[in-house]
Amino acid sequence: MKETRIVKVNPDSPDIHEIRQAASIIRNGGLVAFPTETVYGLGADGLREDTVNKIFIAKGRPQDNPLILHVSSPDDISQVATCISPVVDKLVEGFWPGPLTLVLPKKPNVPDVVSGGLPTIGVRMPDNLIALTLIAESGTLLAAPSANLSGRPSPTQASHVVDDMWGRIDLVLDGGPTRLGVESTVLDLTQDPPLILRPGSVTREELEDVVGVVNLLAEKKEERPSSGKTLPAAKYPHYILDTPLFLFEGEPQAVIKRIQEEAEKLRERSKKVGIISSLENKEQYLDYADVVEVVGSRYDMTKVAASLYSTLREVEAHKVHVLLAEGFSDRGLGFAVMNRLREAARGRVIHV
Ligand code: TXA
Ligand code: MG
Repeated sequence: MKETRIVKVNPDSPDIHEIRQAASIIRNGGLVAFPTETVYGLGADGLREDTVNKIFIAKGRPQDNPLILHVSSPDDISQVATCISPVVDKLVEGFWPGPLTLVLPKKPNVPDVVSGGLPTIGVRMPDNLIALTLIAESGTLLAAPSANLSGRPSPTQASHVVDDMWGRIDLVLDGGPTRLGVESTVLDLTQDPPLILRPGSVTREELEDVVGVVNLLAEKKEERPSSGKTLPAAKYPHYILDTPLFLFEGEPQAVIKRIQEEAEKLRERSKKVGIISSLENKEQYLDYADVVEVVGSRYDMTKVAASLYSTLREVEAHKVHVLLAEGFSDRGLGFAVMNRLREAARGRVIHV
């Protein structure tokens, strides 16, 4: 059991002394959780096998699920990846710093443990001053998965990191709630056209505006990736809730009616029911459930994305027996939100 320290840092003007202390922990082979614009990351020196191994152990993460290397400048890409084409340049110019991870052929100096044995490496430059200063001061690149226990919702607040990682890591830099709340989009540039392995905060439409056609792994399920193996982003679900979640998709009025009916039936069987609702529909559920949590307005997907993971953690804390969740439109950012909700539902999706 480690002694985990928590240090509050101002995200707009981080105290350089605090960041330097965090950087010295990284250089000495330790683990530091830090905020990014998407979710909190769990960072270690990404160019050392021993330190990267510690990340897998702390998270309980399967060894073949690769990590993203975080850089503080686009120039750092060439340290760890090859095939930096004009398309890569356009993406970097359009989206970095920001929530886009580029998957490129890996250089041999990156330990295989980082990429889970794959010949490719994911690289991203986060849009958060604490993260960027920490990477630069560490004098290396940071391997950083989301700072949750493997399979749990990603942390969007320092308290989530503490709940999952207390005693397992050295330091948490608390920079307040993260801005976006859904992880980066993972884009494989070793495929032509580029392939979205994980939908995220940068939408397919935004990518296509910059580089033309982009494919989605979800739409290519029947096709096997070139390696002949299942790609890691598709193999490991983002989270498993302790409570079974049923997701209701369809015309909003029909969804409300069906959720009310299902909640009523469950409560007749003495089940404690939680409902995850849009702001607009909350009132419709108050008489039907033990807990109703609002995830945001249907007309503001940015807010829904930002509060999705904290809402899931909050509703779970009520220890209900079953969760019923409203679906959202999967256009734009809604696609990443629905991807996470569908994963949480693990097949329990009801089309009404
Ligand atoms: O927003 C984010 O991306 C956050 C913050 C901390 O940067 N990080 C994050 O990391 O979500 P993680 O490890 O929780 O998720 C990384 C995803 C996984 O689904 C992994 O399988 C995929 O990216 N991935 C990473 N490198 C890959 C590679 N070389 N090939 C295919 N998939 C890769
Ligand atoms: Mg993760």
